[in-house]
Amino acid sequence: MTDQPRVGVLTISDRSSRGERPDASGPLIQAFVNEQLAWAVAVDQIVPDDRALIRATLIAWCDDLKLNLILTTGGTGFAPRDITPEATRDVIEREAPGLAEAMRADSLQKTPHAMLSRAVCGLRGRTLIVNLPGSPKAVRENLAAILPAIPHAIDLLRDAPDTEAEHARVA
Ligand code: MTE
Repeated sequence: MTDQPRVGVLTISDRSSRGERPDASGPLIQAFVNEQLAWAVAVDQIVPDDRALIRATLIAWCDDLKLNLILTTGGTGFAPRDITPEATRDVIEREAPGLAEAMRADSLQKTPHAMLSRAVCGLRGRTLIVNLPGSPKAVRENLAAILPAIPHAIDLLRDAPDTEAEHARVA
């Protein structure tokens, strides 16, 4: 039996970081992780749409805190300050395009605006980083889309001993 995955939630929003807008999406992700995955959130933070700061936070969470999963919310759209995908690409070593594709495909069933999310998913070491859009509705819908694959993704990254059995079970 391996330990529980360590999860981080990073809210990326100029206004929430300045206290001008309450962060609804970060707490929503935490509740989702608790309720749907039965995992605890080890760390959460709000940062502005600042590429260097996002990059530094992601690197520290991957390399120092050794989180298994980082869920970011916000900054994936077309607004001039939306820079989350670029900051994520700065730090990942391998892309995980299937997760981003699944989120956009599923979300397109709900709103054509789904094609405006530039979200990136990828791996740095043994950490999976997933960009989610900013609104609570989008967070809920996008998380639900990838939920079925997340436990196995984390098992594979951690090289858990029962990973192959899970392959066989799903196949
Ligand atoms: N995906 C789902 N499932 N539901 C939504 O309501 N909103 C979209 C999109 N993805 C949405 C969604 C909108 S309106 C935008 S602009 C993009 O996500 C990017 O959002 P962000 O800039 O808050 O990151």
